[in-house]
Amino acid sequence: MSASTPTSDELKAEDWAGAMGAKWLANIDRFESMIAPVGEAFLERAAFRPGERVIDIGCGGGGTSIAIGAQVGPDGSVLGLDISPDLIAYATTRARTAGAGNVSFVQTDAATASPSGAPFDRLFSRFGSMFFAEPGQAFGNLKSLIRPSGRVDLAVWAPARDNLWIAAMMGVLGRHLTLPAPVPRAPGPFALDDPDYIRALLGAAGFVDVDIAAWDGMQQVGGAGTSPESAVAFVLEALSFGELLAEVAPAVRSAVSAELIALFAQHVGPDGVAMSARAWFVSARA
Ligand SMILES: C[S@@+](CC[C@H](N)C(=O)[O-])C[C@H]1O[C@@H](n2cnc3c(N)ncnc32)[C@H](O)[C@@H]1O
Repeated sequence: MSASTPTSDELKAEDWAGAMGAKWLANIDRFESMIAPVGEAFLERAAFRPGERVIDIGCGGGGTSIAIGAQVGPDGSVLGLDISPDLIAYATTRARTAGAGNVSFVQTDAATASPSGAPFDRLFSRFGSMFFAEPGQAFGNLKSLIRPSGRVDLAVWAPARDNLWIAAMMGVLGRHLTLPAPVPRAPGPFALDDPDYIRALLGAAGFVDVDIAAWDGMQQVGGAGTSPESAVAFVLEALSFGELLAEVAPAVRSAVSAELIALFAQHVGPDGVAMSARAWFVSARA
């Protein structure tokens, strides 16, 4: 697990309990539509069975929790955990509206949570496990939440260079700004992009039978049906990408927007702007 030692500032967790959670909620339809293809493949791989009791880590607006609830049926249950109070409030209302009586939610930091009902049969997370400031300690805690031999399924992003949707955007930005060097393993979407690191982390936490498979597919930037212009609006408003441009001169911002529109125009098809993406589907047993 060796790597150069990042500073504590670089390792600071993203503010999902505050601004990041609010931003995800404000754009939830577009975010969920964007990750729907990878999410469907991930749920299929997880193959939940009736009666299982599942915990959904970093459940966001609860879309996956409700989908799993339908698969495990009335004899099973799903508990979604998320650090964002805004998202937990939204997910709770959403489950109630959907009549998903076997799905509930708790606002908590999954790194230290000890929810009632543990140990669960299964632990699941679609892109909700890459944000821990102290992943070693967090994964140790997650292991304590599932029964011996219980299965864990995590979807995490593969390296940015294998995700054209992000790599090409960063390429555009890099032509106009001096970008901060990425810090390997710092909390963020690409913290778990290295399979060797995932294996080491899960192994150290006591998980066994770690299996990592690549998912390769298309990612619709800003969700289904975007035009190049609406995809750019999404990128600048909803992704951290936009924050890198917050303090630049208007002319630079305009130039970046124009280049992004040109980039996305090369990738627009009948379903909107779609670019290649790669994620790791990780499974293991407690
Ligand atoms: C990229 S979003 C994914 C949301 C959801 N899993 C989905 O696929 O729609 C990441 C989620 O992880 C949550 N999260 C980040 N750090 C967390 C932590 N320490 N404990 C619990 N949830 C956390 C965020 O609040 C956010 O909802």
